[in-house]
Amino acid sequence: MTGSDGRASRSSFDRQWADLGGIGRSEETGGYRRYALTGVDHTLREWFAGEAAARGLELTTDRMGNQWAWWGDPDITPGIVTGSHLDSVPDGGAYDGPLGVVSAFAALDQLRAEGFVPARPLGIVNFSDEEGARFGVACAGSRVITGAMTPERALGLQDGEGVTMAEALRSAGRDPHTIGSDPETLKRIGAFVELHVEQGRGLIDLGQPVAIGTDIWPHGRWRIDFPGEANHAGTTRLTDRHDAMIGLASTVLAARSAASMHGCVATVGKTLLVPGGVNAIPSAATAWLDGRGADENAVRRMVTEITTAAGEFGAEVGEESWTPTTRFDAGLIGRLQEVLPTAPLLGTGAGHDAGILATAGIPSAMLFVRNPTGISHSPAEHADRDDCLAGVEALTAVLAELLNC
Ligand code: GLV
Ligand code: MN
Ligand code: MN
Ligand code: MN
Repeated sequence: MTGSDGRASRSSFDRQWADLGGIGRSEETGGYRRYALTGVDHTLREWFAGEAAARGLELTTDRMGNQWAWWGDPDITPGIVTGSHLDSVPDGGAYDGPLGVVSAFAALDQLRAEGFVPARPLGIVNFSDEEGARFGVACAGSRVITGAMTPERALGLQDGEGVTMAEALRSAGRDPHTIGSDPETLKRIGAFVELHVEQGRGLIDLGQPVAIGTDIWPHGRWRIDFPGEANHAGTTRLTDRHDAMIGLASTVLAARSAASMHGCVATVGKTLLVPGGVNAIPSAATAWLDGRGADENAVRRMVTEITTAAGEFGAEVGEESWTPTTRFDAGLIGRLQEVLPTAPLLGTGAGHDAGILATAGIPSAMLFVRNPTGISHSPAEHADRDDCLAGVEALTAVLAELLNC
């Protein structure tokens, strides 16, 4: 344990939280709109670089633009890494992502205030584009550096306006040709511990402020394109219509019953109707399906059923991403349990960069902080300050243990 009163981490946490609070926040909804390769993203990256500089940390940027701030001798490898992401879903909460980055800097400040001397470097990471809110594939930053997504695929992804990631990189002053897998950066990570706000009700039910993550449900995203024919809303008989929206609506209901049948969850949270006029029958409709569940085969069966339902309307279904079941490193979990003997173990249905690193063979684990609303990906997401500070304290203790040898 850190054996201190935690004053350094408390003031560091409060100051960082206040600094970040206004960046990318919608006045209208109170939610955050922090999307990859936008002006808001640039401001967040400057904030991260500023925090690194203020602490005299070495700032590096990898081949996908993820930012790393290093404390300690870079010649000693590998180091121990913590951190998370700063981007958000549309109208996301304040905690999903930033809590892990802020807690990482606060834990480092606490270790320094205690005069702790790390035996190996500590890295703090800000992963790019974790939510995939703009380009569609979640955890794009960690997927590309680990080789789980090719640079060609990433560069060709398009946002809602048809802007490719390659174009967005150029507009942000970066060279798209430099992106790719980054074994040099990965070599510096001996273990990764991501602290994250809990995104469900697990810790409410357990009556605990902090849990140790065990696994992530298998999950994926699919794009479903429905054909149709544009025509006049007033003059076209019902029997003459070829309305793309009917297929979409029917498939959403089929997804709901397939999810229920197979013990999974399915969400269509984003759609596109063409041409998008109130008085025009849609000539095309696109639905993006998010499917998850505890059992990989059950998720696959659910998606097969949804594909069949969509196929009845002539739709094409394409897999945009698939992340198999992730189990965090048993040895690392064991060490976290030694440091945090009262923390319960908890799995999650939410995806994280820690899952991508784990799949790439990097020993990874997570800490979850209680969310008293049980709501996430919404402005209603919350964590009490005391629980956040309990999370920082837990992370500090874990880092002290992992950096000790
Ligand atoms: C990302 O937060 C996801 O799990 O969708
Ligand atoms: Mn999220
Ligand atoms: Mn997150
Ligand atoms: Mn996530």
